[in-house]
Amino acid sequence: MLVSLKKILSDAEKGGYCVPAFNVYNMETVMGAIKAAEETRAPVILQIYPRLIKEECGYYLSPIVVAAAHKATVPVCFHLDHGPSELEATRIVRWGATGVMLDGSTLPFEENIALTKRVCEMCAHVDVQVEGELGHVGTTKDEDMDEFTTPEDAKRFVEETGVICLAVAVGTAHGRYKKPPKLDIERIKAIREATNNTALVLHGGSGVPDEEIKKAVKAGIRKMNFATDICYAFLDCCKEQLNAPERIIAIDNFMKKPIEAVKEFCVSRIKLVSADGKAE
Ligand code: 13P
Repeated sequence: MLVSLKKILSDAEKGGYCVPAFNVYNMETVMGAIKAAEETRAPVILQIYPRLIKEECGYYLSPIVVAAAHKATVPVCFHLDHGPSELEATRIVRWGATGVMLDGSTLPFEENIALTKRVCEMCAHVDVQVEGELGHVGTTKDEDMDEFTTPEDAKRFVEETGVICLAVAVGTAHGRYKKPPKLDIERIKAIREATNNTALVLHGGSGVPDEEIKKAVKAGIRKMNFATDICYAFLDCCKEQLNAPERIIAIDNFMKKPIEAVKEFCVSRIKLVSADGKAE
């Protein structure tokens, strides 16, 4: 069933678990993630990058996500990941999204607040809730990651913008880590306390050691994003099949194993963040 960001996060808050958010790129990654959710009876968020919204791909992919969510017997939220402006937010809402991320984290603080607030107000007209980002979560290629979120700024940001959840910079980055990251768990706890237990979001989930993820969930992370490792699960399996002596040519048959590979990865993350068995 297709559910709102508000519903999926408030259930996670009540149950003290975290909802995995899987980035999807094509029908096969959608199928892999949904199969994993069904198998483990877990709520999931499927999200797409703004690049896909601006380019043609999102037009075709969005109805696939919505159809998959309606068919699913577990709660599924369809979310925009890292939306930079109103353009991507309005477009994806029109295409059926039930959650939007507005990422103004590279803007000066006041501008980030103003833009995020505007998008929250706009989305509220159609009962869609917004994730904001404060403190910039960069990529693993960045030289340093010193823009950590402070509890004081987070408190003001949440109060003034109206976001339902907040992506925080606490030691992760997007992409493949050169060495395993160590998370600032005390900072997660302090931000939670300062923001009246607002649901916090951890970006850059791929490659974070399992123990760190468990601690982060315990400290109040309620949504965790995984993208890079989904791509690797899918592509590595495609590569293996292309190199096999008896190559499968029919694309639907070829895709069966990559779908399974994505499913297996998603199952492992669902269990790690304790979302398994939480679907009503
Ligand atoms: P990874 O690609 O590092 O898993 O990060 C995903 C993410 O945070 C998407 O917003």
